[in-house]
Order: sequence, then C-alpha cells, then structure tokens
Amino acid sequence: MANNEKISLGENVSVPVHVGVIMDGNGRWAKKRGLPRKFGHREGAKTFRAITRHAKALGIQYITYYAFSTENWKRPKDEVDAIMDLFEKYLDEVRDFIEENIRVRFIGDRTRLSENLQRKMASVEEDSKDFDSMTLVLAINYGGRDEICHAAKTLAQQVKEGKLEPEDITMDMIERNLYTEEIPPVDLVIRPSGEQRLSNFMIWQAAYAEFYYTNILWPDFKGSDLDKAVIAYSERNRRFGGV
Ligand code: IPE
Ligand code: IPE
Ligand code: MG
Repeated sequence: MANNEKISLGENVSVPVHVGVIMDGNGRWAKKRGLPRKFGHREGAKTFRAITRHAKALGIQYITYYAFSTENWKRPKDEVDAIMDLFEKYLDEVRDFIEENIRVRFIGDRTRLSENLQRKMASVEEDSKDFDSMTLVLAINYGGRDEICHAAKTLAQQVKEGKLEPEDITMDMIERNLYTEEIPPVDLVIRPSGEQRLSNFMIWQAAYAEFYYTNILWPDFKGSDLDKAVIAYSERNRRFGGV
C-alpha cells in the first residue's frame, strides 16, 4: 500500500477514533502448521505492520495493539525470550513508520524489560513525538489492573505529601495517571482467534467500547477484516448510559 493512500468504506460509515487490537491466536496458527509457537509470533508481527498501514488509510487516529500482557510472563521461558527478541527486531523496523509520519507510544510497565529494549522504546517515542498522521500505541508488559494500581500509588503519594486531599480525587485525575494519559478512550476493541474476553486489556479505557470478535487467527487477519470490524462498529448504537 502506498504511504498516503486513503480508503473509504462509504459515506455512511463512521470510523472509530481509537481502535484497540488484542493480537491473539499466534500460537494456534503455528500449531495448525506443526510449527513451534514462535513462528506464529513472527507471522503475527507481519500482520501488525500491514494492519497499521491499513488503519492509517482508513483514517483511524489511534490504534493500540496488545502485544504482551503482565500475565504473559507465565509462559515458558523460551517463548517469552522469542517474543522479546521479536520486539527488539521490530522496534528497529517500527522506525519505518516514523517515515510515514506516525507517532509511536508505548504503554505498560517498562521496568521489567531489558535495558536495551527500554532504550529503543524511549528513542522511537522521542523521534516520532511530533508526528500527527496517526498514533500507534504498543502495549508491552501491559495490564489494566497493574495500570490502575500504578495510578493509585501515584495519587496516594501525593496525599501522603500533603499535596492532595482524598476527597478531591476525581476520575479525571485517575485518567491522567494512567499510561494512556493523553490518549482518548477506546471506541472499538477487536479480538481475533475466537476468544471473547478482555484479558486485562484497557479495562478503564474500554469501559464504553464496542467489541468485535472473529474466529480468524491474528496471523491470518487482513485489511478486509479490519474493514468488516469498522463497518460493524458503525452500525452499533452507542448510548453511553443515555436513551
Ligand atoms: C497472542 O497469541 C500473542 C501473545 C499473547 C504474545 P497467543 O500466543 O496467545 O496465541 P494462542 O492464543 O496461544 O493461539
Ligand atoms: C491476551 O492474550 C494478551 C495479548 C494478546 C498480548 P492471551 O492469549 O494472553 O489471553 P488469554 O490467556 O487467552 O486470556
Ligand atoms: Mg492467546
């Protein structure tokens, strides 16, 4: 796809501002082919690149990918190592996105990641911070509960230091202390692979998100599947508690 190509799904389709993607099914994709799970992760990373370009062409302003959860450390060490190696490699390639005017941000607890990875993450963020064609958010060692706990600790510290009264704590303050401080709430969550759960993804930010599930495994997910999700979203009636 050319860098600045635009795709229209029709005048009546309203494109969500922020799409969250739970990239699931890599392991099953590999297993179906008799391959080790890491091959599924490698294939899934290719899908991530193609879908990011497609999302930009659709005019989606924010896309967040759930790449590694705070619970994924439970997996066998060789699988975790293979995923971390992939991040290292792909962070170099994420630089290609910078040339496409895409801002890159990371959410999650970085402290458990290698120093090298943390350095690369910081430099990609710094080099892309002024770009505005789309924001690409990568959730690495991310957990929604961990994120809320982290925000609670920050506010508790301010109370301890006498800078804040507990009764003055607002939802807005909690929001500003999440990893997503400047990122709008999620409008649409897409989960491939047939699972129908959040698995600790953006539990605060997706409070009023629409959900789209498909049985397609993430490595097989195509731009046309993203189109289908956006069209389904556009047909939903979002009420936010109103009538
Ligand atoms: C998602 O694919 C990728 C990560 C969680 C890192 P899975 O590895 O969970 O694939 P399945 O669910 O086992 O097929
Ligand atoms: C969610 O997928 C995490 C990511 C896609 C990074 P999992 O495969 O880890 O979720 P569960 O274990 O099926 O809930
Ligand atoms: Mg899975």
